[in-house]
Amino acid sequence: MKFTFFGHASFMIETMGKKLLFDPFITPNELAKDIDVNAIQPDYILLSHGHGDHVADVELIYQNSQATIVSTYEVVNWFGSKGLDRGHPMNPGGSWTFDFGKIKLVSAVHSSSMPDGSYGGNPVGMVISNDEGTFYYAGDTALTKDMELIGEEFDLNFAIMPIGDNFTMGVDDALRACKMVGTTKLIGVHFDTFGYIAIDHDSSKTKATAAGVDLVIPEIEQEIVL
Ligand code: NI
Ligand code: MN
Repeated sequence: MKFTFFGHASFMIETMGKKLLFDPFITPNELAKDIDVNAIQPDYILLSHGHGDHVADVELIYQNSQATIVSTYEVVNWFGSKGLDRGHPMNPGGSWTFDFGKIKLVSAVHSSSMPDGSYGGNPVGMVISNDEGTFYYAGDTALTKDMELIGEEFDLNFAIMPIGDNFTMGVDDALRACKMVGTTKLIGVHFDTFGYIAIDHDSSKTKATAAGVDLVIPEIEQEIVL
């Protein structure tokens, strides 16, 4: 699997010959201004919830590609009502096997409304598994005991979690979450985009090392082969 970071909580995972784009928020992100968003042509757009900092570029990238939107019932239907009708609705607890592998939506503790203020359903995390590996993307979430269920069910190769604090877990809770889900390989997202979520990279890495976690705080456009 190959991870490419597009800033904030936006990233691509390439696996089983497919491109999976998560939570695209690129054109509004000053830190990501060098990314050519028109060159991003995923097969799937996976959305953890409806907040603008996770869906801002869905429409543009959808129109530029043949991508199918995978998210909760409410988020997929909201895009469907705007004419973006290649969608696959799911909800927490549900799994579906796609041509790149299986997705299970899991609980996240956060909020979810669409950019126009309409109801966005519940926020979710996702576990994706296929012959190349298994990973957990937490989405925007607090630490929650539900994460122990992920550790019980899956043998994760890595996890992608928010570490920016204020709106989501900070690094301390993300490191606790690693224990709960059973991974020592963490890619941090949802940091530094705004003042509220600016983090100290050095102290975050020191804390991770002390917790026995290999934490990557990616640079924009950094690629990581996992
Ligand atoms: Ni959010
Ligand atoms: Mn967010």
